[in-house]
Amino acid sequence: KQASDQLIIDAGQKQFGATTCSSCGMIYSADNPEDNFQHTQFHQRFLNSIKYVGWKKERVVNKFFEGKILLILADDPKYATKKAEEVRQVVDSELGFQQVTLSRPSQAKTYLFISTEGLVVGCVIAEPIRQAFRVLEQPDQNKDMTKDDFMERHRAWCCSTVPEQALCGISRVWVFSLARRQGIATRLLDTVRSTFMYGSYLTKQEMAFSDPTPDGKLFATKYCGT
Ligand code: ACO
Ligand code: ZN
Repeated sequence: KQASDQLIIDAGQKQFGATTCSSCGMIYSADNPEDNFQHTQFHQRFLNSIKYVGWKKERVVNKFFEGKILLILADDPKYATKKAEEVRQVVDSELGFQQVTLSRPSQAKTYLFISTEGLVVGCVIAEPIRQAFRVLEQPDQNKDMTKDDFMERHRAWCCSTVPEQALCGISRVWVFSLARRQGIATRLLDTVRSTFMYGSYLTKQEMAFSDPTPDGKLFATKYCGT
């Protein structure tokens, strides 16, 4: 009896052999050499990219028990803009963005959520905009669509053709996979609203999300209360 139980457990592990690395968050199959290799390649590079060592001058725009939010502007010292760029590359590769340039790089504001362990666990890139197209609710979703189909559909048909006034475009929003659903993106966006334009607190309607992913859409819908 015991032996057959053991057999079932082993078979289960072979089939669902995915492991999540507890430091970099990558999901991979430890008993697949190629997967293992890819993880090794990714692991250190990723952790280096999100490591924050501390700067002599940093612009702290919010503080929490779990960490702080820094704002980085285009004309900040090189060490700061370099980190912002490094994190943007991590985010873009995770989002599958290739060479998506910012519309006005000199006006872009990068917000980084730094954990108490010194890791960049969240990032928002915000840009000034004048108008945006509202994301429209999809008629019923086909349940067995793949993630790619889903994204493709959303990208192609999601927007209204009527421009609406907006002031702040959210060009990227990203949270480290192991730190999601803890309100980090919410706190980043609340901080953007209070600091993006000097002297005014932006409403949720004055912000627009560009080209949201399925995750991004779920989050934005909840955040904007639409
Ligand atoms: N599924 C369903 N609801 C969600 C999800 C999700 N994946 N993510 C957020 N929400 C909703 C929930 O209602 C959540 O509240 P709850 O946890 O109390 O239920 C609420 O939004 C607030 O979520 P946060 O904890 O503030 O969001 P988080 O810090 O986890 O970050 C984000 C959300 C940025 C979308 C994250 O999942 C992520 O980085 N995903 C991968 C990258 C990505 O797709 N980014 C969006 C790209 S679009 C763009 O950049 C414009
Ligand atoms: Zn790892």
